Amino acid sequence: MVLRKVTLAIMSKLELSGKYFEISVAPMMDWTDRHCRYFHRLISPRAVLYTEMVTANAIKFGERDRILHFNDAEHPVVLQLGGSNPDDLAAAAKVGEDYGYDEINLNCGCPSDRVQEGSFGACLMKDPNVIAECIAAMMGNVAIPVTVKCRISIDDFPDEDFLYDFINTVKQTGCNTFIIHARKAWLKGLSPKENRDIPPLNYPLVYKVKRDFPNLKIIINGGFETVDNIQAALPHTDGVMIGRAAYHTPWVLADIEQSIFGNDSIPERKHVLEHMKLYAQQQYKDFETPVKSVSRHMMGLFHGLPGGRHWRRILNDAPKRAPDDVSIFDEAYDAVKKAHDNLAAREAA
Ligand SMILES: Cc1cc2nc3c(=O)[nH]c(=O)nc-3n(C[C@H](O)[C@H](O)[C@H](O)COP(=O)(O)O)c2cc1C
Repeated sequence: MVLRKVTLAIMSKLELSGKYFEISVAPMMDWTDRHCRYFHRLISPRAVLYTEMVTANAIKFGERDRILHFNDAEHPVVLQLGGSNPDDLAAAAKVGEDYGYDEINLNCGCPSDRVQEGSFGACLMKDPNVIAECIAAMMGNVAIPVTVKCRISIDDFPDEDFLYDFINTVKQTGCNTFIIHARKAWLKGLSPKENRDIPPLNYPLVYKVKRDFPNLKIIINGGFETVDNIQAALPHTDGVMIGRAAYHTPWVLADIEQSIFGNDSIPERKHVLEHMKLYAQQQYKDFETPVKSVSRHMMGLFHGLPGGRHWRRILNDAPKRAPDDVSIFDEAYDAVKKAHDNLAAREAA
C-alpha cells in the first residue's frame, strides 16, 4: 500500500529538463466528489486529484465515513480542509491522514459568504499569522505534506506586496507548496462564480513568485483549458492546477496524459464509459448510491464530438430513472455511436 502510494506520487510528476511538474484537478465543491475523482482517474493516471473542501467542523461533528471515504484507485488524492481554528484543523488533518489521503491542503481562496461567515477561505489571507498557526498545527500533527491554496490578493490590497507578505509569513512554518489561483478575490460585491471570472488573471505575478522563491513549489491555477495553455506555464512554475475545464471537458486530461506526460496507453472513451458503468453498478450495490450521482459527472465525456449533445441530454434524464438503472449509459452511448456513424456515412457519400 505504502509502496503503491509512493510509486503513484512519483508517477504523477513529469520531468522536463531535469525539473518535476505536477498537474492536478482542482478542489470543486459539489463537483469533485469521490465519483468524479474516480472518473478522472480512469482518464488520467497521473493527475493529482483534490477533494471538495471539507470543513474541520464537518470532520469533527459530521458523518466522517460518508465525507472522507474514497476509493484506493484515486491516489494520489489530496484532502482540502477549510477552517481557521488550529486545533480543529490539526485534528481534521490527522483524521485525513489516517484515512489514507496523500496530502492535506488548506483552503485560503474561497470568497463565498458562508465561508467568510466562518472566517476562513480567502478572508483568512488578511491574517497570514493565523494561517501560519493553522499550518504549523497541522504539520505538527501529520507526517504527510500540508499545502496552501490561495489567491494572489483580496479586495483593495496591492497584489504583489500582499502576496509576498502572505508567502513570507506562511513559509516560515516550513510549508513549501503554494497553489495560487492567479486572480484576486473581491470579498464583497461579487459572487463566488463571478470571483472566478471577473478579477483578471495575473500569470506574470505567479511566475515572479516562483523566480523569487525558487525553493518553494508554486502551482499555478486559473483559466487553464488546453494543453498549449498548460505547456506555456510549465517552464515558469512547478505545475498547473485545472478546475472547470477538467470538469466540463474531461478529455483534456487524456490530452495532457498524451502530450505532456507522453502516455500512449490512454483508454478510449468507450472503455472509460464501460468501466464507469460497472463502477456505478457496484456503488449502488455497496452503498445504494443512485446512478445519477455517478453519471452527473460524466456529461462532458463526449464534449465536442458528434453526438456529444445527445449523450448529455440522455444522461440529464438520469434523475427520472430507477436509481439502479445503468442501461442509461448504453442508451446514451448508442446515440453517440449513431451520430458518429451518420457523420461518417455523410462524409463517405
Ligand atoms: C463549482 C466550483 C466549486 C469550487 N469549490 C472550491 C473548493 O471547494 N475549494 C477551493 O479551493 N476552490 C474551489 N473552487 C475554485 C477552483 O478550485 C479553482 O480555483 C477555480 O475554478 C479556478 O480554476 P479554473 O479556472 O481552472 O476553473 C471551485 C470552483 C468551482 C467551479
